Amino acid sequence: MKLCVIGTGYVGLVGAPIFSEWGNEVVGVDIDQKKIDRINSGDMPIFEPGLEELVKKEMEKGTLTFTTDLEAGISDAEIIFICVGTPQYFDGSADLSAVWSVAENIGKLVKPGDPYRVIVTKSTVPVGTNERVEEIVRENAPEGYEFDVASNPEFLREGSSIKDMRNTDRTVVGSNSQRAHDKMAKLYSVLDAPLVQTDLRSSEMIKYASNTFLAMKITFINEMAQLCDRTGADVKMVAKGMGMDNRIGPKFLNASIGYGGGCFPKDVAALHKTSSDNSFEFKLLEATMAANEIQAQYFANKVLEVFGEDLSGLTFGALGLAFKGNTDDVRKSPAIKVIRKLRGYGASFKVYDPEALETGKADLGETSVEYVSSIEEAMSGTDSLLILTEWKQFGEIDPADIKKAIRTEHVFDGRNMLDPKEVEALGLRYYGVGRTH
Ligand code: UDX
Repeated sequence: MKLCVIGTGYVGLVGAPIFSEWGNEVVGVDIDQKKIDRINSGDMPIFEPGLEELVKKEMEKGTLTFTTDLEAGISDAEIIFICVGTPQYFDGSADLSAVWSVAENIGKLVKPGDPYRVIVTKSTVPVGTNERVEEIVRENAPEGYEFDVASNPEFLREGSSIKDMRNTDRTVVGSNSQRAHDKMAKLYSVLDAPLVQTDLRSSEMIKYASNTFLAMKITFINEMAQLCDRTGADVKMVAKGMGMDNRIGPKFLNASIGYGGGCFPKDVAALHKTSSDNSFEFKLLEATMAANEIQAQYFANKVLEVFGEDLSGLTFGALGLAFKGNTDDVRKSPAIKVIRKLRGYGASFKVYDPEALETGKADLGETSVEYVSSIEEAMSGTDSLLILTEWKQFGEIDPADIKKAIRTEHVFDGRNMLDPKEVEALGLRYYGVGRTH
């Protein structure tokens, strides 16, 4: 099939080569010339494991191209995917201006007599958006132009997005047209995963329901961790015992310094806004947002309890800037929240992140923060160590190396990656999240 993917962010830039890998001819389009030039030269604008190799392979095969020319991109396409950003607007709602603009441009660029197309929104968009996309295209397209709209939310996680898209648990397609459903079913017939076919609005809601539920699940275990800290239970054991119940499941039960990233914070806020716009008080969402807001502070407070409220003259080794492991993305990163808070009390930092040093520096700046290029450098000669992002290698640090590197005995593990017993056996003091023992 011939496809056009508009927007080369996390969703579009991963989706385009994978659709190509499935045997389709794909044109990726973005308005950002610099970004397209970078991609065409083989330099990916985001860090995503395996992406560079995959894009290169598909481009060499000749079934994947990138351009800024939307007219050329959509001209042969049977399915057009809208994968543009829907960032958080000041009132918590999703900013849909890029979606509206793409819909308007598609409408203006299609020609009378063009073949039938399905226009699919993959971006995360509130209930009712696809109906508006249909209206906008209709208002701008030539009389009688034949098309349908569909919603096809993407559930991929940054850092494992290629794997997630190839091995999705399910594909969700919403449309009010059987013709569109049939085309989308053909595209996804390469996957073994079940295809959930719904109406437009339900599909839009499934994406928000899934993301906010996961955010709530993390928040539940984070609040449970705070209670474990007060009662002497170990949250890792609690999560293990809970997760073995099939009805609960073990995933997204890692207590932490809070969830961040480009999706959960924005999607919880947007669904909350949809609720209030519909005169509904979604109490769980309110509690989730409020609890997540303070989780990083809760962890930072552990440091203040140990070192007092004047941290000037102290240097902390900080491992992690990204909002989670395997990405260079620092949007709403709880690691950065912790560093900012402690810097506000006078602390200095030596920071290491395997991929997010540049993006982290752009966010945090260089005041009292030195960016270094290894775990060893980050720890060496500091007063104490903070683990802030769940990069696998941080969990593999030998506690004996920490003991040699830091001046005091205090080790703060915001991702519960180290074994408290091993750490404390060396005479160090371990502070995790919900791991008093
Ligand atoms: C999320 C959804 O998982 C994905 O389906 C959707 O398409 C986009 O949003 P992503 O933002 O890439 O993906 O990250 P995810 O792996 O879900 O982690 C989100 C945040 O929660 C991170 O800050 C992570 O560190 C945190 N987290 C995750 C925890 O604190 N504990 C956990 O158990 C899991």
